[in-house]
Amino acid sequence: MPNIDISTLPAYPFIGPEDNPFIPVKSSDLERLDGSVGKVRLPFGGWAWLITRHEDVRQLLRHPGFSSDQYRPGFPVLNPIPPKQDDASGLFIFMDGEAHGRLRRMLTAEFMIKNIRRIEPLIEETVIEALERMRSLGAPADLMAEFALPVPSMTVCHLLGVPYSDHDFFQHHSRVIMDRNSGPAQIEEALGALAGLIGKLAEAKRTAPEDDLLSRLMIERVVPGELRIDELVSMAMLLLVAGHETTANMIGLSALVLLEHPEHLAALRENPDLAPGMVEELLRYLTVVRTGLPRLALEDAEIGGQTIRAGEGVVAMLAMSNRDGVVFPEPEQFDPERREAHRHMAFGFGLHQCIGQPLARAELRVALVELARRFPGLRSETALADVPQRPMAVTFGVAELPVTW
Ligand code: HEM
Repeated sequence: MPNIDISTLPAYPFIGPEDNPFIPVKSSDLERLDGSVGKVRLPFGGWAWLITRHEDVRQLLRHPGFSSDQYRPGFPVLNPIPPKQDDASGLFIFMDGEAHGRLRRMLTAEFMIKNIRRIEPLIEETVIEALERMRSLGAPADLMAEFALPVPSMTVCHLLGVPYSDHDFFQHHSRVIMDRNSGPAQIEEALGALAGLIGKLAEAKRTAPEDDLLSRLMIERVVPGELRIDELVSMAMLLLVAGHETTANMIGLSALVLLEHPEHLAALRENPDLAPGMVEELLRYLTVVRTGLPRLALEDAEIGGQTIRAGEGVVAMLAMSNRDGVVFPEPEQFDPERREAHRHMAFGFGLHQCIGQPLARAELRVALVELARRFPGLRSETALADVPQRPMAVTFGVAELPVTW
């Protein structure tokens, strides 16, 4: 590898201005970047290529010569990673090749649009329950705590088949995992408690299966010997973690965009059919996976005209590719009627593209339509510049969203 003076490189992750959570990166950081494929200094040592153009990110994410395994030496680590756990055998988001494909394929049917439609009434119930509870507590309320955070974890409960009597236990421990103020010991304890509950439920479904994901994986995969029970449990945990913070931050930030653009909130109230297009533009505009997707080159490859050598790290910066003017004219504008919005890569692209996207879209659509319909007088209690942002992690969002109605 060539000798590089890392100290002179722009420090990554880039963060946006403190007074506007919608802007993903400061222009001063972009000016320091050397070309569309430039080198950046990583937060835990080393450097990586930052890939920013739409076409280059597509090329990278479908290339089989790049690894997602964060435990490989030289992997460009963007967030602190815990030591490799023995019970992480189902976390296929960090796997490559056939090991990844084998587990991912077991879930593809579950997340097909027609299956998600079946749980849509439960999503509606969850959304309405959370909103009416928020109303009963009275204004002002924190929309993040009362609405954006509970909806995704309750939805995963329905998907997995967690019985009603265990919902409070599930909610409580999910909250601890997602709470920025939880310490590592608390998080480990909550993860253990949830894994214990999921294992117990899966065993119960072996003899009394129901119409849910845990039952189907148990009967169709574990019983015939295709999947181990520890793999099933950690796959279920992956769904919980991957689907929670991302969706919660999208619901919170989307509500904030609509509060800043009351004309779009009113339009949605008048015509809920606008929701699917609006959700696509929100996904593009907000790109909550702000730090992007890290990969390690396993072989030499050329991306965007730049040779990447085996052993070098790369980061696909989704937030920038979703603002590439070649694909999205006037990219800084939020335009719910944007025709090319669906070309965004907020769910990634290629081999690891988000498997939960039909579910996330359904949650966002229902959440925003019901919010517009049930709270016609909704307004933010805080000026945009003062809404507290969460510290930069894998996903970006606001820490609180005080609202009144
Ligand atoms: C993968 C974003 C919701 C489950 C991904 C990836 C992104 C993403 C960018 C690609 C990761 C990579 O390539 O390394 C989002 C966003 C969401 C969302 C923005 C909400 C708005 C969900 C939901 C679930 C889910 C609701 C399931 C309940 C997964 C899983 C993967 C994944 C299992 C790994 C796929 C694989 O490695 O093959 N997501 N996600 N996500 N997501 Fe989502």
